[in-house]
Amino acid sequence: MSAPTPSLAAPPRPIIGVFDSGFGGLTVLRALLPRVPSAHYIYLGDTARLPYGAKSQATIARYAVESARFLADRGCNYLVIACNTATALALDDIRSAVTIPVLGVIEPGALAAKRTIPEPGGDVLVLATAATVQSHAYRTACAALGLRATEVACPLLVPLVEEGWTDHPVTRDVLSIYLTEALTRCAPQAVLLGCTHYPLIADAIEQTLRSLGSTAILIDSADATAAAATAALGHIPSRDTPTTEPPPTFECFATDSVEKFKRMGSFFLRRPIDHVHHLDLGG
Ligand code: DGL
Repeated sequence: MSAPTPSLAAPPRPIIGVFDSGFGGLTVLRALLPRVPSAHYIYLGDTARLPYGAKSQATIARYAVESARFLADRGCNYLVIACNTATALALDDIRSAVTIPVLGVIEPGALAAKRTIPEPGGDVLVLATAATVQSHAYRTACAALGLRATEVACPLLVPLVEEGWTDHPVTRDVLSIYLTEALTRCAPQAVLLGCTHYPLIADAIEQTLRSLGSTAILIDSADATAAAATAALGHIPSRDTPTTEPPPTFECFATDSVEKFKRMGSFFLRRPIDHVHHLDLGG
């Protein structure tokens, strides 16, 4: 009997679900695309029910579980909760509701802070939504790593980013007010962007910090999460060698206007989003 012919079938393409309440999670998708180019991505922005950051734990958990179930039912075999608020308030509920592995943003963000400030007792300023701050999820995650976190709620930033005012004088004024107050409470070595919308205004945050005399290093939890997802998927990006991998593909779902999602999403993803499916998840 001859030996069985080795299978030439390509390994199955991972389907990665990426979920956020709005456009902010596109910062995580943007970081993931070049890292795991062999995957197909399904992005869901629950834009009709945004902002999550001002809502109760029960409501956030209900919205996030419905969104996660949709992505799991759509065939995703890995789920990235690209929303700090949903991670802080609903990660356990999401994990109980679906059978696929689920990664949140908070642990990767806290670990990135630890890599930035290796000595124990370092000070981290966490900028986040009101709900994330009230949950103290970052304080807990940072304390477990020997870091001291000061958590500051910045509720006006998500609407400003969703409006596309990423380089607008009003956004800079608002940042100046938040950061001036925050720096009276701590002298951070690192500032953790604890909301996936904030990387979109990272330049303005950094410039405001410098104008206030802070030399703190900015940490983007979107990047840290994409790196953690890449490691969890066991993917080794083949940057230096020619690759036969097909380019990454993605599709987007939004629960509110698909036109707005196409327009704003293309700007935030830094590549065109030609088509967006509308999804009704109810109220
Ligand atoms: N992007 C979400 C986060 O990371 C917040 C947006 C919202 O308030 O819905 O927390």
